Amino acid sequence: MEELFRDFKSAGDPTAKLHLAQVICMELTLHAMVEEEIFYPAFARATGDEQMLQHSLKEHQELKELIGRVPAAENLEGAIEAIKQHTLHHVEEERRGMFAKAKSSGMELATLGGRIMTRRSEVAEAIQQA
Ligand SMILES: [Fe+2]
Ligand SMILES: [Fe+2]
Repeated sequence: MEELFRDFKSAGDPTAKLHLAQVICMELTLHAMVEEEIFYPAFARATGDEQMLQHSLKEHQELKELIGRVPAAENLEGAIEAIKQHTLHHVEEERRGMFAKAKSSGMELATLGGRIMTRRSEVAEAIQQA
């Protein structure tokens, strides 16, 4: 993701910038979708930490709202920067919070990670064919 944000920033051509903005939004939408579908329910079952779960869900919701503003954004640069800042916060928090807790709760992260990757490519493929 960091690379995508960097590419977006350095892209000079407006068409390339718009394309990168779309890729960023698609990647993050996919992230939220498969995480909510697979990781979050497994996390809730394993840890029962409803508070942590709700915080992450709230941030996904905020992210979706930020993404929703991109198509009509007058300031594309600003809209993507807002998404970037939000994502940096969210990813760091998930890493320290949810993923750390998942690990210490004995969740099978490798298996879950595999399922997430598979699901992600399924959805990505379905979107490309639509
Ligand atoms: Fe997330
Ligand atoms: Fe947060």
